[in-house]
Amino acid sequence: MCASTSSACRLVVLISGRGSNMQAIVNMVRGQALPVEICAVVANKVDAAGLEWAQSQGIETKSVAHRDFSSREAFDEALAAAIDAYQPDYVLLAGFMRVLTPGFVEHFNGKLINIHPSLLPAFPGLHTHQQALAMGVQWHGCTVHFVTPVLDHGPIIAQGVVPVLFGDTPSTLAERVLQVEHRLYADVVRWLAEGRVSLDTMQRVQVHGIASRSFVLTSTGVEPSQR
Ligand code: GRF
Repeated sequence: MCASTSSACRLVVLISGRGSNMQAIVNMVRGQALPVEICAVVANKVDAAGLEWAQSQGIETKSVAHRDFSSREAFDEALAAAIDAYQPDYVLLAGFMRVLTPGFVEHFNGKLINIHPSLLPAFPGLHTHQQALAMGVQWHGCTVHFVTPVLDHGPIIAQGVVPVLFGDTPSTLAERVLQVEHRLYADVVRWLAEGRVSLDTMQRVQVHGIASRSFVLTSTGVEPSQR
């Protein structure tokens, strides 16, 4: 939990590719001068495009290439060791496309947060936009949640919705959901930095002092939904 001391909230961000969510988080943290230190951006691929952007912003980067390890466990141990070196308060999975072992998740219990491009518990796993179109849902979206050993599952911190439009393809839908992802993750990081987020005895998320943890994409942008 952050904001309990005078020191900055320490974050490590994990990516696999372009890292647009990571960029949205960094830009928000810097734009609002939040008491947050992005200690490092870590990728499981040496050529993840987001690493270059992070470096250009003066952020420390590291790659732990999963291909260099013979088992999932060995990779996760090396990844955990790399992260531990920064002693983060939270580890943010931002487009990090690896299934994590239960041991890794336990190690970072309560500190590991993920963004998933669907309204969980619907459509865990890959190809969420395709799944949404195939099911004919009329609303789709994204979820920021604490990570548990079950894939794309865990206490929900916030969700954002977009309408599914006539003629949508997986890529048009993904583009619309991504706009909400950026706002959603940035706001959650602010809540974490302000020490607002906790879990109750039923493992449900409480976000103190925040009226709405749901967002909606409208014609004018992404807004907290009215309650
Ligand atoms: C995002 O939609 C994320 O939710 C999903 O993969 C995409 C990665 O985007 N897991 P980026 O790397 O943050 O740009």
